[in-house]
Amino acid sequence: MPTPKPLSGYTSYKGLPPLAGLCTVEEAARPGLSVEECVRRLKRFHYCFKRLHQILTARITAEPIYELKTGFAHHAYLCAEHVTALRTRIGEMREPPLGLEDVPHPALEAYFDEILCAPTTQHLIAGLSMQAIGALLVDIEKYQTETNPLTDAPSRRVLRFAILELHELQQFWMSCVVALGSPPNMREWFTTVLDHLLIASGVIVGGSPLAPARNGEAMPRLYSTIPYVYDPVPKRDERFSDPWNQGVNAESFLYNPAYPARAKSLMMLYKRLREIDVPEMMASIITQTPGKPWGYYRDMTRQLWDEARHAMMGEVGFVALGVDWTKVKITLNWSHRLNTECTPMERHGVLYFIEQGLMPRTGKRYEFETGQASELPLIATLQDFDWADEVLHSQIGRVWYVPQFGSLKESLDYGDVAWSKVLSNWATVKEQGLTKHENWWPAVYAMACAAEGVLPDATVLAFDETYEGKRADLQRIAAE
Ligand SMILES: [Fe+2]
Ligand SMILES: [Fe+2]
Repeated sequence: MPTPKPLSGYTSYKGLPPLAGLCTVEEAARPGLSVEECVRRLKRFHYCFKRLHQILTARITAEPIYELKTGFAHHAYLCAEHVTALRTRIGEMREPPLGLEDVPHPALEAYFDEILCAPTTQHLIAGLSMQAIGALLVDIEKYQTETNPLTDAPSRRVLRFAILELHELQQFWMSCVVALGSPPNMREWFTTVLDHLLIASGVIVGGSPLAPARNGEAMPRLYSTIPYVYDPVPKRDERFSDPWNQGVNAESFLYNPAYPARAKSLMMLYKRLREIDVPEMMASIITQTPGKPWGYYRDMTRQLWDEARHAMMGEVGFVALGVDWTKVKITLNWSHRLNTECTPMERHGVLYFIEQGLMPRTGKRYEFETGQASELPLIATLQDFDWADEVLHSQIGRVWYVPQFGSLKESLDYGDVAWSKVLSNWATVKEQGLTKHENWWPAVYAMACAAEGVLPDATVLAFDETYEGKRADLQRIAAE
């Protein structure tokens, strides 16, 4: 058949931008990918984002370095959002969105297994930034150039946002590789394992020829020969120097009307930074609760990320008030005990039970009003958003936790009972020599006063109440 000749000199009316701003007529006049091929590739991107979400979440708890822990939390959430957007788009493409949970290719599964099982943090972040994220970017960018920009505009829009955030992910993790150094055998792992798996899976990598595959196998594995085992034990870096310390009862101070709002701001910042234990714990629920609808993982990951942000709000607040936060003894007692002594369902129950306690007038509203009363605008901003986030978390609990029970009361009772299993270990950790429960408050308060150029208040300086004898949850519930 002869090829038709395009209309020459075609222009839009009065030189207006054509095609609603999507592209030029020439670009739209080129045929593109079929719907079937688009769905096949979009399902592959969906799988990659799902595996990235899984890897980033699973490695939060046992990662000691705070900046990496919060980075994992952030990017797990971004990946969860891209999974959600791709699921929606695939569902719009004629066929019902069947097979979304299928593995597109066994080599791609092995590829992500390898990164999940990376033996050190350095292997993990090199595998993420220099392999998986980069390969996914190339794959998506290829799609963007090959699909028709007019017919497939909705997919291209979803993917444009994915590209933007994948570039941010790549930059962040590349900077971490530069800061921490790459692992010694990285090149060998890449060229004899990961590159082979990527090519076998149909995701093409360009560049230099491959080294022979490890052991000459078609599906080489190095770190994932034994399936991944999640490590539920939280770890912290050396700035968290006294992780069992329960020596300063923040709530006793916060709810005592005798103390001034400005000093209470410091206690609220301590409570915020201490929340780094929530992502550590929620990562365990998400990782150890398979088989839920995707919306569960998306919502739980959103909450996890919010809690990581709450911790960073604490960090920023301390820095802004001239306080070295490493002098504040941030405990990991809560996430450690829940992750090692309770089931995932019990942990979720405890989380919901605690968050319900944050809603009454003495909870998050009180913290916000205390922030306002402190006359430190930053503290008010932090508490304002912390409160809003907690309202959202309560809604997430109502969607995914409460309906597993016959009534709200039953769901709360379950959380309460789960908490009762974890009695206070204040004396135990002291006897074991894990901590002396040092009262870090006077030094921290004095530091803030020095930065402000005021003399410490003698009564505030003398505060010395610990968590001894308190049921473990009472240190978390706002309304004691
Ligand atoms: Fe929070
Ligand atoms: Fe929360």
